[in-house]
This record gives sequence, structure tokens and C-alpha cells, in this order.
Amino acid sequence: MVDPKVAVIGVGGWGKNHVRVLHELGALAAICDTDIGRAKEVAARYVGSRVYSSVEDLIDKEALDGCLVCTPTKTHAEIAKKVIEKGINTFVEKPLSFSATECQQMMQMAEQKKVILTSGYVERFNPAVTDTKKLITERAYGDPMMIEFHRENRMPLHIKDVGIIYDTSVHDIDAAMFLFGSRPHVVYARAGRKFHSYEDFATIMLGFADQKVAVIASNWITPKKVRTFTAVCTDGIISGDFLTQEIKIDHAEAALIPRRQFQEPLTLELANFVDSILGKAKTLVTAQDATDVTKVAEAAILSSNTGSPIYLDMKQP
Ligand SMILES: NC(=O)c1ccc[n+]([C@@H]2O[C@H](COP(=O)([O-])OP(=O)(O)OC[C@H]3O[C@@H](n4cnc5c(N)ncnc54)[C@H](O)[C@@H]3O)[C@@H](O)[C@H]2O)c1
Repeated sequence: MVDPKVAVIGVGGWGKNHVRVLHELGALAAICDTDIGRAKEVAARYVGSRVYSSVEDLIDKEALDGCLVCTPTKTHAEIAKKVIEKGINTFVEKPLSFSATECQQMMQMAEQKKVILTSGYVERFNPAVTDTKKLITERAYGDPMMIEFHRENRMPLHIKDVGIIYDTSVHDIDAAMFLFGSRPHVVYARAGRKFHSYEDFATIMLGFADQKVAVIASNWITPKKVRTFTAVCTDGIISGDFLTQEIKIDHAEAALIPRRQFQEPLTLELANFVDSILGKAKTLVTAQDATDVTKVAEAAILSSNTGSPIYLDMKQP
């Protein structure tokens, strides 16, 4: 296979970025959106990409090697199952689904059909996260004990099907599990709703083995975009900014800000999907990883509804 043929289902606010990057990677085959006007408008920018308004037509008529599902969260499972059933490698935007049961069903189908199933946890490809992971793995500043995340933005008015935990906090749940290299055994959350129909602010605490803790604070109330993390390690503190991709290390003797080039995480993410289709790489985000994020998000919602900590018994990676 030279260039894999990949389609994008859902070309709204985020999906159109996938279309641009897939085109740059030479892998864009077709576009599908129930809003055919929107699909045509996006396709017009990329010569040769075909347009569909129904998923069934797309997967019946195109010989696809891969498909990206970039539709609203509540539609992910229904659409992804059709694509997987057809034997097509599938990338589903985050969260894989809002339901861990649906995630598990998708995962089983993908195993049976022997296709790739991955999800859009794009921060995994953010150089600020990959550099921090490298420092943690090398134990350059000792053991990470506490990682705190802040993700704040104005409320995205078009997101109507889920609240901030499934839409936004999931990025940091995934990053926390990735950086610690393990799964939490307890989840405690407080969340509330001020302006959205679901929760629009949440603070989630994840308890890991050996007293390690992640604190994830997300809100759609502040008018300013903030996406930061601080990893307190036994011999230093690594602070990162997801937006500038800068990390800063403070330790007893000095503060360091390593220099490197800015890289678009979405390009790295889709290159990883394309390379995994070509058999040149493994997907960095596995279907199990994405399912575990949804399990933790479900537990956070349950905890904030009941006021109790939720104990989980997830298999450690
Ligand atoms: N990874 C990230 O950083 C990131 C960022 C933004 C959004 N997202 C995710 O991307 C997904 C889409 O978000 P968005 O902001 O682009 O939403 P959006 O509402 O702007 O776009 C969704 C598009 O899907 C289309 N659609 C809906 N149902 C469809 C169907 N059955 N078949 C074909 N098309 C259909 C809609 O017409 C619309 O054009 C969500 O899951 C969201 O969580 C991820």
C-alpha cells in the first residue's frame, strides 16, 4: 500500500482540521457529513476528495483503508460500529464513547475484524507531554507524585450532547494515566452547572498506587483559554503549557526551559494512524486506553452526583 485511503466522517469545527492534515499527509480520500452543504464546502478546498451525506454510502462505495469519526460524542459508537463492521481501520474522536460498555463493544468488534481502533487523545502527541513523559521515564527529576491540570475556556456553544467531563477533562484523564503509566484505583469529583445543560465545571481527583495523585480542574466559565499542567516530582517540578508546548523545570539549583520546535499535535496524531495502517507503527493510543479514560470519566460523573469516592479495579498497563 502506498498512500492509504482515509475518509473523514463529520467535518464540523474539528473534523475540518482532520481533513486538512490528512490531505497534507496524502491520505485524504473522501468526506462525509449529513450536512452535505458543509461537506461540499470543505471538499472544495481539496481537489479529488469525494463527498457523501451518509455513512452507509461512504463505506459501501469507497474502498477505504481508514476512517475518522469526528461527529458529536453521542453518535460515535453507532457510526464507529458500522465502520468497524466493514473491516475498516477506525479512528474515533475523543471520547471513544461516553459509555464504557459501548467502548468495550467497539473494542471487541475491532479485535474480531482485526482492524485498528484508536481515539483522538491528541495531547499524547503534544511535545510538552512527550518531553515530560521522557523525563519521568528517565527519572531525571525523581518520581512524579502529584500532577495538576488546568483546562479552561469559554463554553463551546455547539456542544450540546455532553458536559465538560466527557468533552474536556478526558484529555487530562488520559494525560494523567499516560504520565503516571498506570490506572487510578479511586476517583473523587465535584462538578456543577452554571450555564450549560450538562456540567460546565469540574474538579476531579484521581488516586493512584504509591500515594500518587492527579488533580484535574476544568471549566467552561472563564473567558480565557488556559491549558496547563504541573508535575511535582521528588527532585523537581515540571510545568507545561499545552498551548505554547513549553515546559519549565524547577529544581534545587536552577530553572530550565528546554528549547525545541513547535509541532502540530494533530499532524503527529494522524501520521501515527496512517503509519499504523501501513504497518510501520503501533497506535500510541490503544482502544483499551480510550476505554479506561471513559471508565474514569463515568466514575467522575457518578462521584460528583453521589458525593462519594468511586473505587475502580482496572487492569494496570
Ligand atoms: N481532540 C480534540 O482536541 C478535539 C477538539 C474538538 C472536538 N473534538 C471532538 O470531535 C468531535 C466533533 O466535534 P466538533 O466540535 O467538530 O463538532 P461539530 O458539531 O462542529 O461537528 C460535527 C459534525 O458532524 C456532523 N454529523 C453529525 N452526525 C453525523 C452523522 N451521523 N454522519 C455524518 N456526519 C454527522 C455534523 O453535521 C457536523 O458537521 C467530538 O467528538 C469532539 O469531542 C476533539
